[in-house]
Amino acid sequence: MRHERQVELLRRLKGIDPSVPSPLATRSMRNPASHYVDPARFERERLTLFRRMPQLVGLSCEIAGTGANLTANLGGVPVAVVRQADGGLSGFVNACRHRGAPVVAADDGPRPRLACPYHGWVYDLDGELLSRPYAEEAFADAPRCGLRPIMVAEKYGLVMAQLEGEALDVDKALHGAEIEIAPYGLQNYSLVEARETTLSFNWKLVLDTFCESYHIRALHKNSIAASYLSEVSICDTFGPHPRMIGLLKSVLREIENPNEAEWSFLPHTTAQLIFMPSGLITYQRDHIELWRLTPLAVDRTLVRTSLYAPLAPTTDKTRDYWRKNLDLLLDVTGREDFPLMAQIHQSLTAGAIDELVYGRNEPALIHLHSSINEAIDSPASS
Ligand code: FES
Ligand SMILES: [Fe+2]
Repeated sequence: MRHERQVELLRRLKGIDPSVPSPLATRSMRNPASHYVDPARFERERLTLFRRMPQLVGLSCEIAGTGANLTANLGGVPVAVVRQADGGLSGFVNACRHRGAPVVAADDGPRPRLACPYHGWVYDLDGELLSRPYAEEAFADAPRCGLRPIMVAEKYGLVMAQLEGEALDVDKALHGAEIEIAPYGLQNYSLVEARETTLSFNWKLVLDTFCESYHIRALHKNSIAASYLSEVSICDTFGPHPRMIGLLKSVLREIENPNEAEWSFLPHTTAQLIFMPSGLITYQRDHIELWRLTPLAVDRTLVRTSLYAPLAPTTDKTRDYWRKNLDLLLDVTGREDFPLMAQIHQSLTAGAIDELVYGRNEPALIHLHSSINEAIDSPASS
């Protein structure tokens, strides 16, 4: 993030009382509990949000060389994105045109061609069918189809994919968030490690975890509450995407310095852009984290958390340093946030409450759910 932008954001904190909630949304919001637990609603979300909207599937740096690939699941449909020899990207539905087996396995290394593991059909990196070994004759009267293409785009070090709908354009998809994302220089980072887990609750509860700092004081009283502000954060919105910056208490001392040119932002902040619907990019002091959500069912969400460092770790010491960072992050969410989310999901399923209330002190949460509801309920989505 450029220094002027950092100063501009920090200036908003001048004169605030850290015990008074800010910023405040214009009004609170009530959201029906059914939005989290109704299977019919979930199906509409998969079709509308996860198939027709751009999805963040990874960072450019993790598919750098020819044949390097990423897999994802867009609204239930498996897809793969593959780096081409000319440096561009191709994306396709990851299902063999013979009998549907996935042609690219998750975390496959770079490869010169794509070979289906079932009967060995071979596809070029752009999805064109090259051969049906030992059986060309047997399939001579059947259509010769390549893998079904999908839309992919890459810019600012972000890789996006989309299954249906309007043409995919990264700038359009970011809605102005590039003002903060572009200067991160994500294309220069290196993937250190990615971990996957399946959570027993609705995908929106994963995002809710990151959308307000209000819960820090109570839920994280024995972990991060000593260092983070609970009542104050910095919130902005970019189209449907909220961006919330969590603040360490040390930021208050930083902005006491009358010389703004000396202000530093990174040691005191955690900037989180929720890329609606399925991603979260966190810019955290010395590294980047990416959370990718794959809703598997109304009550089951696959979450992949990746940590990227500005330089590829080359020694055990640096690898260990980054691993500990990821351990720490997943320890707090895994021990304190997510078990509670699972309990909330169970309560909502049982009809314990019929609606949730998002307070004016939770503006990013209000924005996220307003955006989701608008996308689902707009006439264009039906
Ligand atoms: S399903 Fe792929 S070769 Fe048969
Ligand atoms: Fe939390």
